[in-house]
Amino acid sequence: MMDDSRETFGPRAFVTGFPIKHSRSPLIHGYWLKTLGVPGSYRAQEVAPIDFPAFVASLKSGESGFVGGNVTIPHKEMAFRLADDPDTLSEELGASNTLWMEEGRLKATNTDGRGFTANLDEKHPGWDKAQSAVVLGAGGASRSIIQALRDRGIKEIHLVNRTIERAKELSDRFGQSVNAHSLAALSEVMHGAGLFVNTTSLGMDGEDAPVIDFSPLLSDAVVTDVVYVPLKTPFLVQAEQQGFAVVDGLGMLLHQAVPGFEKWFGHRPHVDEKLRTLIIRDMDKH
Ligand code: ATR
Repeated sequence: MMDDSRETFGPRAFVTGFPIKHSRSPLIHGYWLKTLGVPGSYRAQEVAPIDFPAFVASLKSGESGFVGGNVTIPHKEMAFRLADDPDTLSEELGASNTLWMEEGRLKATNTDGRGFTANLDEKHPGWDKAQSAVVLGAGGASRSIIQALRDRGIKEIHLVNRTIERAKELSDRFGQSVNAHSLAALSEVMHGAGLFVNTTSLGMDGEDAPVIDFSPLLSDAVVTDVVYVPLKTPFLVQAEQQGFAVVDGLGMLLHQAVPGFEKWFGHRPHVDEKLRTLIIRDMDKH
């Protein structure tokens, strides 16, 4: 529970979306505020799309009293457009998930890709030795992951999607290292790859997912999933049964929150097991 007495002290930050009540960000930031003993508050603020420009205006003018916050669906694109100074990561994605005021200007970045790589760095260091990676899906999550993989120096990225046009559109944004394929090519492009990432919603919330033969991957390849409900998704279960190392997607959610907290509250927080357990318990409740 949020300690109301702290609401009046220190910087105030928000997470906004529409709807927002299922967001776990208040739990994450609340945990860090409490464990680090930092004064400040973080709360969910539901804002309808039509009201979002006014919300941003009140942030810029200082009227809202917020120093910044997180932005989620459906406001990420608008947040990028309304920011005074979006960084290059946001520019390339056309979307921002983290906002903060600095010297009277609204700054914006996108921390999803950093969350993705930080999770792999924590759970499977050395993953980035992979020369080739396969990314399944071409939606918003895929976009930030491809950006992060490219920036990390992964030489060959195979983007596989049910709708090939969407994969092509995305690969064109990122240049030569990203190749677009249809689902029929999945097995072929998995040959010699050291990383497999599911960015689709397949397998979410107990839904079935297709059977995948992971054996064409390198024997020391790692398989990861952006879906984290359930924690062990059908793809991760299959990959593990087939002898591959797996990393679940919860850490991406936790790690993407780190840069925002540091901007608003001035302390770099740590993703630890207690935080993971807190979120897993919350997932079990719903
Ligand atoms: P997000 O922004 O969360 O990544 P999205 O933009 O809705 O979500 O993208 C969902 C991704 O999951 C897409 O790549 C989608 O494939 P299409 O582009 O062909 O729609 C993929 N996806 C969803 N359901 C799927 C299914 N049943 N089989 C294969 N791919 C699926």
